[in-house]
Amino acid sequence: MIFLLYIFFDIKFFDYFHDFVFLYIFVNLNIKFILNFLLKFLYQNKGDSKIHFNKNNKGIMIDVLLGLQFGDEGKGKIIDYLSNNYDVIARFNGGNNAGHTIFYNNKKYALHIIPSGIFYGKMCIIGNGAIIDPVSLKKEIQLLENDGIDVKSNLYISKFAHIITPYHIAEDIEKEKILKIGTTKKGIGPCYTDKVSRKGIRVCDINSDFIKNYADIDFQESLKFLLTLKIANIISYLNDKNIEILAEGAQGTLLDIEFGTYPYVTSSSTTIGSVMTGLGVSNKNINKVYGVFKAYMTRVGNGPFVTELKGKIGDKIRQAGNEFGSTTGRPRRCGWLDLPTLRYACMINGVTNLVMTKSDVLNDFDEIKVCIGYSFIDSVDNEEYSIYDYDNTLYNNNAKPIYKKFKGWNTINNKESLEEFIQYIENEIGIPITLVSIGKNRDDIYERY
Ligand code: GDP
Ligand code: IMO
Ligand code: MG
Repeated sequence: MIFLLYIFFDIKFFDYFHDFVFLYIFVNLNIKFILNFLLKFLYQNKGDSKIHFNKNNKGIMIDVLLGLQFGDEGKGKIIDYLSNNYDVIARFNGGNNAGHTIFYNNKKYALHIIPSGIFYGKMCIIGNGAIIDPVSLKKEIQLLENDGIDVKSNLYISKFAHIITPYHIAEDIEKEKILKIGTTKKGIGPCYTDKVSRKGIRVCDINSDFIKNYADIDFQESLKFLLTLKIANIISYLNDKNIEILAEGAQGTLLDIEFGTYPYVTSSSTTIGSVMTGLGVSNKNINKVYGVFKAYMTRVGNGPFVTELKGKIGDKIRQAGNEFGSTTGRPRRCGWLDLPTLRYACMINGVTNLVMTKSDVLNDFDEIKVCIGYSFIDSVDNEEYSIYDYDNTLYNNNAKPIYKKFKGWNTINNKESLEEFIQYIENEIGIPITLVSIGKNRDDIYERY
């Protein structure tokens, strides 16, 4: 503008040299401005992940996958199936008490702390809410790397995650003699206890002096190994990138320290709130919440299980479903699907997409049952009454299941009976069952919507 005025009024205060400098600055400034504007416009519309315009977390998108029962719902298989759609797979709770089974190249892998996106070569994060046994982590990494799976380049560990020490494991084993929770004896409870007592050890606290405190050579070596891995402040990382994250839940809603069948629960929060506290991300970025459940139910360890089948039918499910713990090898207790607990789990977690697994396990059953409510004997009036909603204290106190019967589907090809079963659950819960798993392999699955 000033330049135009300058020409227009022909004010010759400067010689030609000054004119040239003035013109140069003017043109340069304007070209830069126009170019900047064009670039910004172009990249914003392309959603280029290398350009950071998401100063208010606009670029981050988080989907979550959670177990809706007592754990072992088949979360690992479903995470593996979904992984390719995401940039990052992140564990936010629990430790190596988890066992997430994946079949990859016809080989069975049980992942305990490494996120299930590792087989797709995705960036895998162990968040601050998870706890790490260095000995178990080292073994898991070596086992995978021996099979040619690149873990070290893809694994990132939060510097704020707490460490499980040999003392925690010893304490867990000792306490089990009295408490009889039926824990995995991996030191989970004692490690989380130290964390909330503010005397825990975080990954960022490990140094050579700390390592010397431990006589256990295996533990010492594993700590040194841990320090060779990528340790970072995951919180700032997850909030600074234009990425899509799949948060991988461990355990299940009924094992949640707050909302599960307390005290027969694990020591971390297994439900939706834990995603925010366990990764340091905001709830406003959460999009889909996948809730995984089996077409029946299982439980390892002690505690109430209203639909448990202790006789032949339970044994038949255990054999057909190969229901033995991926972490401890213990036989899993088996029973029919319990709808009030499923409805409760969906409510607590805000589930948007249901995933039903292990439908094929019920192939050879002529009759399949679903618990639709419970009956109780009132201790004051000695009268029987029913509830249809889940209530923790009532559930823990001799509830008897009320069942609805379904015709067995005999084969997964008989989609009609299976579909009838699926539609009944969908209508009762009011959430679509978008994925149905019909076998242990990656491709044994179909999408309904
Ligand atoms: P997670 O802890 O939730 O990941 O589940 P686990 O891996 O502990 O237990 C689930 C078991 O069921 C594993 O052995 C899986 O390989 C297997 N599995 C998962 N989905 C299916 C399915 O649809 N059908 C069958 N037959 N097995 C399945
Ligand atoms: P995934 O992720 C099934 C159970 C134990 C015990 C209780 C407390 O594979 O679904 P802990 O060792 O956590 O203190 O034990 O919780 N439990 C699980 N059951 N699947 C799991 O994980 C579990 N993790 C813990 O059996 O009853
Ligand atoms: Mg498991």
